Amino acid sequence: MAELKPSVIVIFGASGDLAHIKIFPALYSLWEEDFLPDNFFIVGFSRTKFDDGAFRKTIFDSLNVNCRKSPIGEDEFSNFSKHVFYLTSKYDDDYSYKELGRFIESKAKEYNMSKNVAYYLSTPPSIYISVIDGINNAKLVSNEYKGDGFSRIVIEKPFGYDYESARELNGKILSVFKEEEVYRIDHYLGKETVQNILAFRFANAIFEPIWNNKYIDHIQISALESIGVGFRAGYFDKAGVIRDMMQNHMMQLLSLVAIEPPPVPDADDLRNEKVKLLKSVRSLSLNDIKNYTVRGQYDRGVVGNKDVLSYKEEEGVPPDTITETYVAIKLFIDNYRWAGVPFYLRSGKRLKTHKTEIAIYFKKLPYSLFAKVGIENIRQNSIIITIQPNEGIAINFGAKAPGFKFDIEPVNMVFKYKSSFKLSPPDAYERLIYDVITGDQTLFARYDDMLIAWQLITSIINGWAKTERPSFPNYEAGSYGPKEADGLISADGRAWNNE
Ligand code: BG6
Repeated sequence: MAELKPSVIVIFGASGDLAHIKIFPALYSLWEEDFLPDNFFIVGFSRTKFDDGAFRKTIFDSLNVNCRKSPIGEDEFSNFSKHVFYLTSKYDDDYSYKELGRFIESKAKEYNMSKNVAYYLSTPPSIYISVIDGINNAKLVSNEYKGDGFSRIVIEKPFGYDYESARELNGKILSVFKEEEVYRIDHYLGKETVQNILAFRFANAIFEPIWNNKYIDHIQISALESIGVGFRAGYFDKAGVIRDMMQNHMMQLLSLVAIEPPPVPDADDLRNEKVKLLKSVRSLSLNDIKNYTVRGQYDRGVVGNKDVLSYKEEEGVPPDTITETYVAIKLFIDNYRWAGVPFYLRSGKRLKTHKTEIAIYFKKLPYSLFAKVGIENIRQNSIIITIQPNEGIAINFGAKAPGFKFDIEPVNMVFKYKSSFKLSPPDAYERLIYDVITGDQTLFARYDDMLIAWQLITSIINGWAKTERPSFPNYEAGSYGPKEADGLISADGRAWNNE
């Protein structure tokens, strides 16, 4: 078990949704399961006026809605909330950061602990620079090598808006913190099923030998959501699916399914392999962008028996918006293992189902023995890794259907997390916050993998600006996305896995 040093977690943007929906529920679960150090305290730093008591009350209410440990009684909560404090602050005011410094100092004395501090940026990204400047000006970054305790910074996405802004933000962070102190969150990496991709590939003798272009025909990575934009229009309309999902979550899934085994499964080696892999993703010419990418925006429709609005009609979305709510991309990885194998990625909102999966399709048989007895079109073997919901892995193969007639039917061999382990996996944020406290960067993006992913995504965004945009909306809510996305894959004689 990793060492849990006494720690302080400062949450910038503590009164916001992310803190209430994800960060505090994760902290509470960690505390309840004894995964937080004995001496720890959490400082909320936000503009909204609260005293400690009023702030704790907002946390109590939201835990009872958002925490997997709910219902949480007042007594249990009061033991947790003794560790929670709040400072009403201004992000662009040096005085607020000095106050924060004094507060940390006094609590560290009271708890008799070194100043091990994780600064968690859960503010809107427009405030990141002010916070980093504030931390720096108030000299709140300690030098771990001089025995001062650690300083770590945790940054939520979106990490920049395009390659240039991501590079600038990165430069700013690295002018104050060292790379080994920076934790760039991609919550997909905290999901158990995503971590399992590595176990599945590298802890089993039967899969890795066939994990290459000799046996694999193509790979599909899908993150389909049935929800719409919800209350996040202000952020989402500036981002679109290409920045919101493709640059981060989808690129991370692509990396994990395609990387070479690292020499050691630690933060540096794993991330070195990701960088190598992402560097091998073929860049897209303007013509490729026309032919290999599809964007869409949802119209009205029916999702789960409910009539839903079009994207343009959602609250907070400008009616003349041209933001995409769906993207499909075909990519190639130019290396020995993957040459010639297409990777089809798609992600969208207000689709028919909610599922995130990686579907690996194997090549057709080189020769079909059973064609001679009239059995044509035996289905390709496939492995479907379901990231969510119903987390698990299914291997699809052909079996003789019972009876006197010789017929081959596809069947599934299925592993499900819930039935095999009888435990519900911790939320991704629990795992990631725990790793921040213990100092393990394995499940966080490094500056170079993040920037290479931005390079590819920025080239697509720039290419779209130069090519004709489809007329939006172009898919019905409750469908599987624009018909052009079906065309993207069917042009190659393949089909999306919509089962
Ligand atoms: C977030 C995106 O990073 O991931 C959201 O900003 C998206 O738009 C969400 O809905 C999906 O995460 P999950 O864990 O529900 O698949």
